[in-house]
Amino acid sequence: MRYFICLLVGLLAGAIVSGMFSGAMQRRNAWPRALMNVMQHELGAARSAARSDTCAAPAQGVSAEHLRLVAGDLDAALLAPGTKDRVLSQYIGDFRKSVATWDANAACARQAQALTAIANACEACHRDYR
Ligand code: HEC
Repeated sequence: MRYFICLLVGLLAGAIVSGMFSGAMQRRNAWPRALMNVMQHELGAARSAARSDTCAAPAQGVSAEHLRLVAGDLDAALLAPGTKDRVLSQYIGDFRKSVATWDANAACARQAQALTAIANACEACHRDYR
């Protein structure tokens, strides 16, 4: 009986500690993951608008603006303070360039092309870092 209680207490303590640990891990990644989810939303909305020929809507401009803003935060969100990563910075730079070439006032077909280039830049970084 005593062993059983010890086992139970041990299991309980383990569960609590691992819960605390995974909670801390999730908080640590909350910022980059939030940025990623915002980008996914903006990119998805803009791509379906471009495909369905509704890309003249002002919403495209707002999506472009949001992607630009979020792209500016990627270094701080993905790099631990005081660290450098040349390859990661290269991916971030390439991503920013692809976002900058998207003209939210262009014809839908042109926009669709630019948005595909952006999606490719997302994938390029994910291949190595996600
Ligand atoms: C410079 C690198 C880089 C670029 C560019 C990038 N990502 Fe990510 N992405 C990551 C990393 C790293 C993770 C894993 C983050 C984590 O779990 O802490 C990630 C995770 C994600 C996730 C999962 C988030 C979650 O809730 O777990 C989504 C969705 C995502 N990215 C979408 C995108 C989209 C869409 C783009 C382009 C518009 C993009 N990413 C561009 C590096 C990048």
